Amino acid sequence: MKRTTTCGALRPADAGRTVILNGWVHRRRDHGGISFINLRDRYGVTQAVVDQDAPAQIKALAAELRNEYCVALEGPVRRRPDDMVNPDMPTGEIEVLVTRLVILNRCDVLPFQIGDESSAGEDLRLKYRYLDLRSAGMQNRVRLRGEVSFAVREWMGAQGFYEIETPTFIKSTPEGARDYLVPSRLYPGRFYALPQSPQLYKQLLMVAGFDKYFQIARCYRDEDARGDRQPEFTQIDIEMSFVDREDVLSMTEGLMGHVFKKTLGVELPAKFRRLTWEEAQERYGSDKPDLRFDLPLQDFSPFVETGGFQAFKDALTQGEAARRAAAQKGVSIPGGAVKALVVPAALMPAPYSRKQIEELEAHAKIYKAKGLAWMKVAPGPVLESGVSKFFADQGAAVISALGAGPGDLILLVADSRRGIANTALGAVRSRLGRDLSLSGGALRFEFAWIVDFPMFEFNEEENRWEAAHHMFTWPQEKYHDTLESDPGSVKGDLYDLVLNGFELASGSIRIHDPSLQKRIFNIVGFDNEEAERRFGFLTEAFKYGAPPHGGIAPGLDRLVMIMAGETSIKEVIAFPKNSFAVSPLDDSPGIVDAKQLNELHLAIKPGS
Ligand code: AMO
Ligand code: AMP
Repeated sequence: MKRTTTCGALRPADAGRTVILNGWVHRRRDHGGISFINLRDRYGVTQAVVDQDAPAQIKALAAELRNEYCVALEGPVRRRPDDMVNPDMPTGEIEVLVTRLVILNRCDVLPFQIGDESSAGEDLRLKYRYLDLRSAGMQNRVRLRGEVSFAVREWMGAQGFYEIETPTFIKSTPEGARDYLVPSRLYPGRFYALPQSPQLYKQLLMVAGFDKYFQIARCYRDEDARGDRQPEFTQIDIEMSFVDREDVLSMTEGLMGHVFKKTLGVELPAKFRRLTWEEAQERYGSDKPDLRFDLPLQDFSPFVETGGFQAFKDALTQGEAARRAAAQKGVSIPGGAVKALVVPAALMPAPYSRKQIEELEAHAKIYKAKGLAWMKVAPGPVLESGVSKFFADQGAAVISALGAGPGDLILLVADSRRGIANTALGAVRSRLGRDLSLSGGALRFEFAWIVDFPMFEFNEEENRWEAAHHMFTWPQEKYHDTLESDPGSVKGDLYDLVLNGFELASGSIRIHDPSLQKRIFNIVGFDNEEAERRFGFLTEAFKYGAPPHGGIAPGLDRLVMIMAGETSIKEVIAFPKNSFAVSPLDDSPGIVDAKQLNELHLAIKPGS
C-alpha cells in the first residue's frame, strides 16, 4: 500500500484513476452510514469516502479511525456531485472511493487539539512539538524557512560566494553575550566555546583569499530569551574582500530582493531608504524603527523657556550642566531634550481617555521617563487639558510648529538625558503603532538601513568605553586622529538593516590594519596582553597581507518570522527552546552521570 500520489495532487482530470494515498486522518465524519475521511499529508488534504455498500471489513476499519491515525487507502478517483464541491480545498472537486483500507499506525489520545487555534500552552506544544508541527501554520512556516534558505543559497551561489563551514568548537567570539562552553576531556580545565557568530573565522577566510564567503551558520549566545531571541539561532553570515560599505549594502539589497520575490512573490524596492543612527533616534526614538507608519518625534524645546512648566525647564538646564561637566573631562554627551509626539485625531477611534494616557505613561516609565505630559488640541485651535496651562500663551505657535489640528493628542517627554527622552517617547510611538494598528496588514515590508552608528558606547556602571558593534569595526576615516581623545564622537563604518521594527542584520567594514586594531582594543580597555590572549591569532593573521574587507549577518530566524507575519522566532524554528532556555521535548539541559563529569574533570559545586 505504498502511495501512488499525495493528498494535495488530485484534480477532476484524475477522475477514473485508481490511486493509493498515505497520510493522517485529519477528520472523520459519518453521515447516514457513509464515512468521509479527510486524509492529510504535507501536500494537502483529500476527501475519501467509505460508501454504504462498502465491504463490512472496510466499514469496520473506517469506524475505528480517529484523528491522526496514520493510514493507507486505495480506490478510484471520482468527481464530487456539484453540490458537494468544496471551493476552499484545492482537491475540493474530487474524492476517492475507498476500496482498500489499512491502518498503518494508531494514535493515542492527543495531548492537545492540533491546529493553529490550539489553546495549548507553549510548554505542552514544545513537549509534543512533532504534533504541533503537524498544524497547517507550522507546516507553512517550516516550508517557508526551507524555501528562504534555498533562495539564499541560490542567490549567493550565483553571485560567486562560496559556502564555507567554520568550526563550532572555538576559542570565544566577542559578540558581547555570555559564551556556552564545552569542557575538554583531553585537557583538564580547558574549554571550547560555541561561537556567538563566525565573526573571526570569516575574517580569517578573507585573509586566506576566498574573497566572497557566506554560511547559513548556527550561533550560540547565553542571554535571556525574548520574542526575537533564542540561545541558538541562525545567521546568513556574509563577508567580502576589497569592498566598501556601498558594496555590502547593495549586495544585501539584491539578496533580500531575490528572497522576497522567490518565496513570497513580493517585489522589494531596488534600494532601501537610509537613516543615520542620529536621525533614527531623533525622529523615531529607536535604532530599529517600524517605518510602516510615520508618527515622528518632534522637538519641543523652543517652547520650554517661555512656558512655565518647571519639569521641562529642569530637564534642559540639568542636561546642559551635565553636558558641560562631561566636556571638561573630554567626554562628549548630548544634553537634555523635550520631545513631542502628535497623535492625529484621525488615527484614534475615539479621543484618548485619562486612563489610556496613564497606561501610555506607565509604558514610558519602563524606559526611564520621569513622566508623560500631554495636551489636547481643541477647536480654535487651542491647547487644552494636561499641561496646556503652561503653554496657553504660545498655543497657536505650538500647534502650528507641531503641525497639529483639532482633536489631536500631544504627548511630551522631557529628560536631562536626550537619549532617555527619545527612547521613552519612541517606545510610546511603538506602542501606539500596535494599539492603533498603524502597521497595515501582512505583507508590508518596510526596510531601512541605519548607518553612521557611534563606534563606542560609554558603560556608566563600569566607567569605560565599549564597542557598540564589535571591536573589529572600522572607525570612519575622518575620526582616526581623534579616536583616543574623543571616543564619544567617533562614528563607525557599521550598519544595521531594520525591517518592520526589528533589527534584521548588522555588519561593518572591518579593521585590516593591526596597529589600528590595537588602538581600538586599548580604548575598550584591553591591554596588549589581554588582546593578545583573546584575539592574538587574528592580529597575527593581519600581519600577513590582510585585504580590506567587510560583511554583514542577517538573522535567518528573524527574517522568516517577519515574512511569516509572526512576532516570535519560536514560530519559525522546528525545535526551539522555551523562554527559560529549556527544551520541554527532550528535557534539556539535563543532568549527566557522575562518570561523565569525572571524565571531564568537573564537579558540581554543592548547593548549586
Ligand atoms: P549581531 O550580533 O548583530 O552581529 O547579529 C546579527 C544578527 O543576528 C540575529 N541575532 C539573533 N537572532 C536570534 N536570536 C538571537 N539571540 C540573536 N542574536 C542576534 C539578528 C542580528 O541582527 N558577527 C556580527 C555580524 C557582522 O558583523 O558581520 C554579528 O553577529 O538578526
Ligand atoms: P507634576 O507637575 O509632577 O504633577 O506633573 C504633571 C504632568 O507632567 C504629569 O502628567 C507628569 O507625568 C508629567 N511629567 C512630569 N515630569 C515629566 C517629564 N520629565 N517629562 C514628561 N512629562 C513629565
